[in-house]
Amino acid sequence: MATHVTAVINQKGGAGKTTLAMNLAAGLARRADTVVIDLDPQGSSRQWASQGSEPFPATVKQIGGKWDARTLHQNYRAYRHMVLDCPPSLDSHASLQALRACDVALIPVLPSPVDLWASLRLPQEIDEARKVNKNLRAYLVLNQLEPKSALSAAMHEAIEEFGIPVLQAVVRRRAVYRGAALEGVSVYQMGSRGAQAAAEIEAIINEVIGT
Ligand SMILES: Nc1ncnc2c1ncn2[C@@H]1O[C@H](COP(=O)(O)OP(=O)(O)OP(=O)(O)O)[C@@H](O)[C@H]1O
Ligand SMILES: [Mg+2]
Repeated sequence: MATHVTAVINQKGGAGKTTLAMNLAAGLARRADTVVIDLDPQGSSRQWASQGSEPFPATVKQIGGKWDARTLHQNYRAYRHMVLDCPPSLDSHASLQALRACDVALIPVLPSPVDLWASLRLPQEIDEARKVNKNLRAYLVLNQLEPKSALSAAMHEAIEEFGIPVLQAVVRRRAVYRGAALEGVSVYQMGSRGAQAAAEIEAIINEVIGT
């Protein structure tokens, strides 16, 4: 079976790409072999996986030398799932190839219109990638939502203008996401403290990736 590739992408720094990529990969790893490719020169997902004493449930690799969407698929075809943790830039080889290589692009955004405005070039890049990657599906994922707070009218407007569908499943602001990173694990391994966060990640997997 072909590897299913999910790219977590947004040129806006700190939107939650690495947090979503790593927890998603941990959830997928419960289903089948999963690799995270750390495409960010900052190396945050590599760093995350090397923290603490417990092994991270998915394999995390960095990629070097010459590569493109095709070699990415070839090199990691042994895995059922691949998650691409992209750098906070669209002007990089990594981000463009990630959009060409993926089945699904997930775009984490903070629930403020200002954050979404910083990403306005992304829909264009997705359209461009669709010229060669015809079945590419892309979704916004609302991250760091405050419990019980509703989205502002301005945010609804900004989302509409962005023109990319929003996942129903959302990620709330929870200390356990930071805690998991510090301990080098995912929210799935945080026991009852991580249960609600793990349920959020499961909802994302079920909504866009399935098994
Ligand atoms: N849902 C959340 N709840 C609480 N903290 C979060 C959540 N999502 C992300 N964070 C925290 O926000 C910060 C930025 O998240 P993260 O590193 O995942 O973003 P990023 O988009 O990968 O950043 P960069 O652009 O630098 O790669 C981190 O400290 C992370 O722990
Ligand atoms: Mg990151």
